[in-house]
Amino acid sequence: MFALTPRLAEAADKPALYRLLIEQGRALLEGEHDRVARAANLAALIFHALPGLNWCGFYFWNGRELVLGPFQGRPACTRIGWGRGVCGSALAARRSLVVPEVSDFPGHIACDPASRSEVVVPLWRGDAPFGVLDLDSPLPGRFDEEDRIGLEALAKLYLDGVAE
Ligand code: SME
Repeated sequence: MFALTPRLAEAADKPALYRLLIEQGRALLEGEHDRVARAANLAALIFHALPGLNWCGFYFWNGRELVLGPFQGRPACTRIGWGRGVCGSALAARRSLVVPEVSDFPGHIACDPASRSEVVVPLWRGDAPFGVLDLDSPLPGRFDEEDRIGLEALAKLYLDGVAE
């Protein structure tokens, strides 16, 4: 079976950690094109590799709303409307949102009261909304630009291999 994290502990800095994560993610997802299977393994890889997370997972757009997909962490809200919360806002804005303090984000949807900061990467296939990758942390200000860049690269890796 795939060797999960030993090398990740050796990463010198955050960009190096993401480079290793992308390398491991590519190996982990290779040959698997199912959207759920890919999302499940990628959520698990990220959750166990990045420090300071309490939730990592996917929501998928079903044509009307975002519906909860594979994740790691406590149970979460199952449906999020277009433009609602951090997830729906990032999808509608078509850009990643890094939220250092969730209580300052108007309309933030609190699934776990322990969450203090959040980052959401929207997933689009061409002009079609596909879903979001969402990470939560109990630490304020947990996510920065280096996380955004690394997570966008992981989101691209995910989307590039999903079957039509
Ligand atoms: N906080 C998100 C909802 C999803 S949970 O964090 C898992 C939001 O405001 O969209």
